[in-house]
Amino acid sequence: MSGALIDQVGLSELLDEGMAAVERAMIDATDSDVEILRDASRHILSAGGKRIRPRLLLQSYLALGGRNLESVAKPAAAIELMHTASVVHDDINDHGTLRRGRPSVNAIWGRTFALLTGDFLFTAVYELMAPYHDLNIDLAQAATALVEGETLQASAVKNKTFTREAYMEIIAKKTAALFQAACSIGAKLAGAGNREIRVLSDFGFQIGLAFQIVDDILDLVEDDSKLGKTSGLDITQGRGVAVALNDANGNGNVSVTDPLDEIRRKMMDGDTIAKARAQAANLIENAIVSLAILDDSPAKKALIDLAQQVIERDR
Ligand code: IPE
Ligand code: IPE
Ligand code: MG
Ligand code: MG
Repeated sequence: MSGALIDQVGLSELLDEGMAAVERAMIDATDSDVEILRDASRHILSAGGKRIRPRLLLQSYLALGGRNLESVAKPAAAIELMHTASVVHDDINDHGTLRRGRPSVNAIWGRTFALLTGDFLFTAVYELMAPYHDLNIDLAQAATALVEGETLQASAVKNKTFTREAYMEIIAKKTAALFQAACSIGAKLAGAGNREIRVLSDFGFQIGLAFQIVDDILDLVEDDSKLGKTSGLDITQGRGVAVALNDANGNGNVSVTDPLDEIRRKMMDGDTIAKARAQAANLIENAIVSLAILDDSPAKKALIDLAQQVIERDR
């Protein structure tokens, strides 16, 4: 299909084919003769998930004029595998027992094998990214940030320093960095210029911040069966957006050292959720506005729609 003439229908067909290639690449990269690793990887991958990070990569690539989705399936698969590894490990750390509508890897195979399955998924990223030279730097930086973010979060909880400033740094690193890498890698693969790469990089970063804020709101207000994962963990573990927005430097109502029940009560009574939603909506709006320098196209519109879904999602 010729690049300039692609229409909305052609675009969605192209994307479906691209995402199917991503799924194949993930399955191929996670084959192992070791049954537990193969089975646990299949278990978490075949459960689905939103696949928003590889979609962002493919859609950034398309919005900047790229058309050969088959050729970018491997980096998109690498991003999703890195994310999947992080949630397998996350469920060990957070004691999550449900993930993507199924028992988590740790719930079925135990902590040791979940740790190793996460490691295995991370190692598959090396293989997939081997041909992509400098793009490995983008992904390596995102991986480092993710681990730093998770570590800062655990420290802030332990030291009772989960302020809103700490929260923003944590979510920037643990979540937004990978969204940023997805978009900037997509732009780079399309052969975009520096200015466009920077715009897509910032776009991904802001979408990532909003995504985690919305995730934290859903953790508070939705139940396990709707989300397909163990909900309500943030508040019981002393973190998340509600704890951050109730900190003493914020509205002054409660401090981070207050009992969690008090924070929960304040949050349910007050306007914390509305504030958090407004912050996420603001980030999405800014992200969309920043795309103004790109030529209008069905692919750009699809990218904007994807950004909007981040704030509209309810699961
Ligand atoms: C969950 O990410 C972890 C966060 C960064 C909030 P997703 O909500 O993208 O998880 P899946 O891939 O759809 O299961
Ligand atoms: C997930 O954070 C971020 C990762 C880097 C894995 P959370 O612990 O808030 O995510 P969920 O709610 O379990 O998916
Ligand atoms: Mg976590
Ligand atoms: Mg978790």
